[in-house]
Amino acid sequence: MNYYKWIDSNGFSLKGKTVALSGATGGIGSILCDYIAYLGANILCLDRNAEKSNALIEKLKIKYPNLSAKHITLDLEKFDNVKNVCKQLKEIDIDYLVLNAGAYKIPRYKCDTGYNNVFQINFISPYFLARELSSQIIKKGGRVVAVSSIAHNYSKIDIKDIDFSDKKASSKVYGNAKRFLTLSLFSYFNSKNVLSIVHPGITLTNITAHFPKLVFALIKYPMKVIFMSAKKASLCILYGLFDRTQTGEWIGPRLLNIWGLPRKKQLKTFTYCELICSKEISNKIYDKLTKD
Ligand SMILES: NC(=O)c1ccc[n+]([C@@H]2O[C@H](COP(=O)([O-])OP(=O)(O)OC[C@H]3O[C@@H](n4cnc5c(N)ncnc54)[C@H](OP(=O)(O)O)[C@@H]3O)[C@@H](O)[C@H]2O)c1
Repeated sequence: MNYYKWIDSNGFSLKGKTVALSGATGGIGSILCDYIAYLGANILCLDRNAEKSNALIEKLKIKYPNLSAKHITLDLEKFDNVKNVCKQLKEIDIDYLVLNAGAYKIPRYKCDTGYNNVFQINFISPYFLARELSSQIIKKGGRVVAVSSIAHNYSKIDIKDIDFSDKKASSKVYGNAKRFLTLSLFSYFNSKNVLSIVHPGITLTNITAHFPKLVFALIKYPMKVIFMSAKKASLCILYGLFDRTQTGEWIGPRLLNIWGLPRKKQLKTFTYCELICSKEISNKIYDKLTKD
């Protein structure tokens, strides 16, 4: 499949627009950067690893000599850094914010916000960035694109254990953070016409390569055959820049949420009560973080 042809038919030029993208160095992020550069936007790569991020930018500039791209150091585990990046992005006046960075099975510890790092990387920091930058993005008619996951479905919000620190399974801890991200952004952006909740289905990247070495050696090739390529899965994230989602909708692969080209669908996995509960909790977290 020619992905650029698909982008030409389903998207639009981003010339003159500025896209800030977290996790640009990742499997999906680096492909998204290529697609976004193809569409002519300026790119801000929000990454924790400056060397990797700058190497990516250099590579992109060889393919797209007119590209304007810059690295900004963003470590989602360090909240002071997240606040600082917010300030910088407010001055740059971005059009699109793509909240793509994520982490799944990593050693867990309590971060500076008091919540565990998986919750902070996948929910608290991206949620804070989205809220802080929302008014300028709304003014510019841009989009906040938040990358969720089918793993959001592995858990329900637990008010007694907000970040799932008492739970062992990585799938649940990660899924809970993605669930918070999705539901809290639904509530916050309700009818503001600026949000795209997207997900890539399943594709082989670092985040899905979390199995023990021997197991991974055995399943790596079958996984490559069974699941979509990262190039195809990334189209579901890119499509979030072209469309938008209302509360209770998301964009992802059309077949069983795992295979195929992007399609907007109803997300029927949460209740109204859970939506309100996530809203109250995320508002409290945001208020506390803005006061600190
Ligand atoms: N692949 C899938 O099947 C799948 C399925 C569902 C959802 N997703 C979501 O898709 C998004 C992209 O994932 P991917 O598949 O491209 O995984 P990936 O290759 O592991 O990329 C993850 C990206 O997030 C960055 N990141 C991790 N921790 C960070 C931190 N503390 N601060 C700043 N950046 C951090 C990584 O930076 P480094 O390069 O420095 O490590 C990397 O750029 C994630 O949100 C993920 O949850 C992926």
